[in-house]
Amino acid sequence: MKFLITAGPTREPLDPVRYLSNRSSGKMGYAIAAAALEEKHHVVLISGPVAITHPSGAEMVRVTTGDEMFEAASQQLGECDVLVMCAAVCDYKPAHYSPVKSKKTREPFALELVPARDILASLTSAEHDCFVVGFAAETHDLETNAARKLGEKNCDLLVANDVSRPEIGMDSDENELVIFFKDGTRETIPRGKKIAVARRLLKIILDVRENCLTKKS
Ligand code: CTP
Repeated sequence: MKFLITAGPTREPLDPVRYLSNRSSGKMGYAIAAAALEEKHHVVLISGPVAITHPSGAEMVRVTTGDEMFEAASQQLGECDVLVMCAAVCDYKPAHYSPVKSKKTREPFALELVPARDILASLTSAEHDCFVVGFAAETHDLETNAARKLGEKNCDLLVANDVSRPEIGMDSDENELVIFFKDGTRETIPRGKKIAVARRLLKIILDVRENCLTKKS
């Protein structure tokens, strides 16, 4: 089976030396890629800038901005069976890019931002045959937000993690996930090393996908 996995942050440049980004380390997406490779699946890993080693055997596509991630994912989507959209994509980007380094002044400085494309929602709004797994990074109202994102982004599964807890989630080696299914049920993968959590998540993804295909035929 062919997996398309996105991981890590995106960066939106302000000028040649500054950018907007977030704390995503890429560890969860890379762990899902490693778990899929262990099971002999083909993995295309579209990665934002991260400081970790890529899983051996993955077909790597390295990107920086959200637009680059969208272009790469759109090109690959038609060839893939499962999309796992784990990347922490910037929701806004600077309205203007300065080709030269902006100089400081003594005055207050306001940055004008414009909404960036929602990659997952854009990909799923076009026709495709992929089984789609979205993620939700939440600090509060996890259940409400995750259930909403599952529907709004047309996902088959939505994987939520509580990024307010420092021991799990962003940049940590461990995670705990709550998976939301389209029938309104949910399942928790308890706290563990990201690779162990990824192996359990992979099994759930493949089971649910199999179930969907059986129902369709
Ligand atoms: N996502 C995306 N493009 C964006 C923002 C998010 O493709 N511009 C994807 C993420 O990869 C993830 C899902 O949408 O699979 C949810 O991302 P998240 O950051 O949790 O939610 P947002 O939609 O950005 O909403 P908010 O920041 O308000 O929680």
